[in-house]
Amino acid sequence: MRQAIQNLEESRIREVANAGMGRSDVLAFWFGESDEVTPQFIRDAAMESLAKGETFYAHNLGLPELREAVSLYTGTLHPKVAADRIAITSGGVNALMLAVQALVDAGDEVVAVTPVWPNLTAQPLIMGAKLKRVSLQPSGGAWTLDLQALLDAVTPGTKLLIVNAPNNPTGWTLSRPEQEAILAHCRKTGTWILADEVYERLYYEDTQNRCAPSFLDVASADDRLVIAHSFSKSFLMTGWRLGWLVMPADMTHHMGKLIEFNTSCASVFTQRAGVVALRRTDEVTPRVVEHLKACRDTLVPLLQAMPMVQLATPKGGMYAFFRLDGHGDSLETAKRLVVEAGLGLAPGNAFAPEAQGWLRWCFASKDPSRLNDGVNRLGRWLAARR
Ligand SMILES: Cc1ncc(COP(=O)(O)O)c(C=O)c1O
Repeated sequence: MRQAIQNLEESRIREVANAGMGRSDVLAFWFGESDEVTPQFIRDAAMESLAKGETFYAHNLGLPELREAVSLYTGTLHPKVAADRIAITSGGVNALMLAVQALVDAGDEVVAVTPVWPNLTAQPLIMGAKLKRVSLQPSGGAWTLDLQALLDAVTPGTKLLIVNAPNNPTGWTLSRPEQEAILAHCRKTGTWILADEVYERLYYEDTQNRCAPSFLDVASADDRLVIAHSFSKSFLMTGWRLGWLVMPADMTHHMGKLIEFNTSCASVFTQRAGVVALRRTDEVTPRVVEHLKACRDTLVPLLQAMPMVQLATPKGGMYAFFRLDGHGDSLETAKRLVVEAGLGLAPGNAFAPEAQGWLRWCFASKDPSRLNDGVNRLGRWLAARR
């Protein structure tokens, strides 16, 4: 087996979840998904498709109707993107992996902004790339970008820059001027940008369209830019495995070939559900975002009131990422919290070595009182240790 595969680290989040396996009393906030089921009208669309007998292979790049629906949807948030720049994928993670397969050769240098969801740093390593991490800087519980450090790290020898904003786990978001500076720099160095914008709608700042700044707002159609998206978060569709990529038009045909060799296509009934989700976005996403904002505003002040906790209010995403003073080993702390307090959180060092001592709490909870219960468990656990 290839050494790069043998070297892949196992998920530390799974390691914590395994510590709570079989225990029904654990309040689990470790995974990045809501506990709310997909809206009925989206499920109905999938069931209608199956009832009609749509059980066959489809086009590699996705159903024309869905690519058109993504194009229209994107145009409501950003400058319009033509359907010939869009490929439908089997989830956001598949979109990201396809992009990395398309752009990265073994030995290429890839720069990633970290802490970040571990799949984003594992994918270039699977391709045999050399990974250079540029760390966000923690200060007072918030993580911020040293823009100059990032620009200095991206050189003509850098094939790909991977950036996820709004960011999992920190909630950090890129500003428009930062995006402009990064794009201008990457145009000079000839570096591709892979922007993971799956959390763009989970954005809590007051903006006209309730959407985080996107590279699509500043780039032109032929820039070396690929954007990864997902139905998982803004449409409550994690289990469906549906996402999409936006890329320069002359790349789409080649992406179709890669999809053929990875998954061949996303399943048709899932895509039918995707069409309905996009057409009726306003019946889902604004409510989901309002609810998540209420969850954030329930959890974050309670954590901030705890003496040992350092945490800034995240602008986007679905996570409270906090430092717990006096608990330097995140994995150890997260495992103990499961076993001793019945509280399931993700360890910070799953996302970057520099996030050792931090914990991630997914606040996407249908019933926000679970968050209060969780904070009480954390408080009692910390008090017993004092
Ligand atoms: C930053 C980020 N990108 C992409 C994804 C992929 O989502 P999915 O594969 O469910 O579409 C996730 C999921 O947690 C994520 O956190």
